[in-house]
Amino acid sequence: MQTLTGKVCLVTGGTRGIGRAIAKTLLERGADVAICGRTQDAVDEAVAALALETGGKVAGKAADVKDHAQVGQLFQFVDARFGGLDVLVNNAGVGFFRPISELSIQDWRDTIETNLSGVFYCTKEAVARFGARGGGHIVTISSLAGKNSFAGGAAYNASKFALTGFSEAVMLDARNENVRVSYVMPGSVATEFSGKASGQDWKIWPEDVAEIVRMLLEMPERTLISRVEVRPSRPKR
Ligand SMILES: NC(=O)c1ccc[n+]([C@@H]2O[C@H](COP(=O)([O-])OP(=O)(O)OC[C@H]3O[C@@H](n4cnc5c(N)ncnc54)[C@H](OP(=O)(O)O)[C@@H]3O)[C@@H](O)[C@H]2O)c1
Repeated sequence: MQTLTGKVCLVTGGTRGIGRAIAKTLLERGADVAICGRTQDAVDEAVAALALETGGKVAGKAADVKDHAQVGQLFQFVDARFGGLDVLVNNAGVGFFRPISELSIQDWRDTIETNLSGVFYCTKEAVARFGARGGGHIVTISSLAGKNSFAGGAAYNASKFALTGFSEAVMLDARNENVRVSYVMPGSVATEFSGKASGQDWKIWPEDVAEIVRMLLEMPERTLISRVEVRPSRPKR
């Protein structure tokens, strides 16, 4: 088993939901963790809470993953604060769920630029740093919407289907350099993602996704879990 103690991890979209749960779990396992979100206030609030809850080394910077320049500045911040990078968790994501007749150009751009281009920008920055550490691990939070289309999901499905091709190609590019690439495809998770904060007990909890990410990262180095599908055991009927 690999240890997370002292590893430097960056979790995009760590201000709430799944990303925040992942950041907390990694801190509890002894990792140093950086997070981002789009506003400094939300990042500061999450960093303070995570530090209080875990006593771990956590820092954060506002960065919009849609913006290549802001992504570069985020990684420079991690370099300056922690001196390197071992793990990238591509978690930041958005969803606009409307039929094609109502889906705007802006909805499409926001979805593809966050869920797909943002993952590309962050992955490039991470891979460029892993050589100096002798390797690294990238975990991308995709979705079962990356294999199952649904009405109203044109932009979101397109972004998450694309992540499968992207992640698997990068995995094949980089695995011989000791860079491991995994993606997780959760079904419904109890977060504010779809706007509903209550009545979600039947869903996967963010802490459960965090536990899966921990397991992926702690697998022995010889073994790579490249894809995980995860669903509520008893979906609401
Ligand atoms: N909830 C589900 O049912 C579900 C199921 C499968 C997969 N997923 C995936 O899991 C991931 C996390 O979702 P969640 O449910 O935790 O959603 P959430 O509660 O809405 O959290 C989304 C996170 O992403 C950040 N974010 C959004 N756009 C960003 C951008 N352009 N740049 C930087 N950060 C950005 C948000 O931060 P700020 O708002 O502070 O910027 C927030 O921290 C997403 O990729 C989503 O597609 C969710």
